[in-house]
Amino acid sequence: MNPIIIVHGGAGDIPTSRVKGKLDGSKKAAIAGHEILAKGGSALDAVEAAVVSMEKDEYFNAGYGSVLNLRGEVEMEASIMCGKNLDVGAVTLVKDFLHPISIAHKVLTDSPHSLLGGEGAKIFALDKGFNTVYPGSLISPHAKKALDDFLKHGEFGRTEIGALNKADVGTVGAVAIDINGQIAVATSTGGMSGKAVGRIGDTPQIGSGTYADNLIGGVSTTGHGESILKYCVAHNIVKLMENGLDANTATKKAIDDMTSRLNNTAGAITLSKNGDIGIHYTSQRMSWAYIKDKKIYYGINHGEVFEEQHEL
Ligand code: GLY
Repeated sequence: MNPIIIVHGGAGDIPTSRVKGKLDGSKKAAIAGHEILAKGGSALDAVEAAVVSMEKDEYFNAGYGSVLNLRGEVEMEASIMCGKNLDVGAVTLVKDFLHPISIAHKVLTDSPHSLLGGEGAKIFALDKGFNTVYPGSLISPHAKKALDDFLKHGEFGRTEIGALNKADVGTVGAVAIDINGQIAVATSTGGMSGKAVGRIGDTPQIGSGTYADNLIGGVSTTGHGESILKYCVAHNIVKLMENGLDANTATKKAIDDMTSRLNNTAGAITLSKNGDIGIHYTSQRMSWAYIKDKKIYYGINHGEVFEEQHEL
């Protein structure tokens, strides 16, 4: 099997000033994951590496650059799933670690549990050797401004940069298939600007933010968390593929149905067990990139696909 990796950098009303940073960061993340796959590494390690790359990058709402809750704090969430045996690991309400996705991966490999939150996630992470970061060091100027705008205008107000505050609903994710045909998915987020303290969204909830099954395919979602989790979007897409839809048709149907039923936007990236790609979003923009057969494809606007040769 030729390895494939696809990433997304979050769906939303992304202002033009953020487009280049999102596109560059999405390509960089796909390359980070692909380097692992090309050396024969596992899909799980590849999706973690891709998400780690975006968690370090201030252009994404995950890790450094996560949006802030009503108290001005970062509260992050992440999940990872292995399609071979349906093993999962997830964390929520994580405050002071740069890479929640790596802690989620450790939950998958080293914990009898699936989802750890808040103080428990911190105790687990410290026990596994993860280092905390200095309080406040995950807060970017952009995230601060997004919260200020939210507090001025409310969820549906317009920010000074002209985008809806809903723009800061974003998430990052990656789906990969390795040379052994193993599928893995990872998703990580800071949630939404101005969320209530202790709010938990779709990202750490298996079946909503993340799903992987070697027998069918894998999905990572992004967008309005409360809607995505009511609609179990990731699992919904996988089930549509199991019932015969190709990856792109299944992704489009689930995201469009969710939006028309719940009147909120979302996006998803999908990979079928045969290596077919699905990309769809009902938001204004969603950055994505994938590497398949020595080419990197990427885009952020509807109908847009850039393509370049990619050799290691
Ligand atoms: N999908 C990100 C969130 O709403 O938390």
